[in-house]
Amino acid sequence: MLSQSVQQLLNEQIAKELYASNLYLAMSGHFAETNLMGMANWMRIQSEEERGHALRFFDFVIDRDGKVEVGAVEQPPAEFGAPVEIFAEALAHERKVTASINAIYAQAMKDDDYATQVFLQWFINEQVEEEASASEMVERLTMAGDNRAALLMLDAEMKGRAAE
Ligand code: FEO
Repeated sequence: MLSQSVQQLLNEQIAKELYASNLYLAMSGHFAETNLMGMANWMRIQSEEERGHALRFFDFVIDRDGKVEVGAVEQPPAEFGAPVEIFAEALAHERKVTASINAIYAQAMKDDDYATQVFLQWFINEQVEEEASASEMVERLTMAGDNRAALLMLDAEMKGRAAE
């Protein structure tokens, strides 16, 4: 049985993951408009992964006999800056998600909810990877600076990202 506090945090996380999915989809659209199709691909796959994360929370609440509530999802921005700024924004967003997952874990510990703690372990590992990959992109885009050839090379490499 989920405690009210853990249930509420899990439900809020569904909306947060859906927001991340929409944010990365909006970023993908921006990259496609600017003909950076590799980055568009990378963000589109990321967007799909975030939807998958939302569904993992959704299924877990149901499996625990909880009550699912899908909250309102805020509209993501429509205007974006340079690629390095976009990836920095994605990294900042992932750090927020990590903090949010840690907060659910802390509440689950407080409520002696072991099943939620075990469930969240996957997300805790996933966040390490997600922060690392966004951070790597920020660093590589920073290295590329204003060099268009380097930017296009990075973009070509990102076309290779495939859905997991
Ligand atoms: Fe679902 Fe990127 O955190």
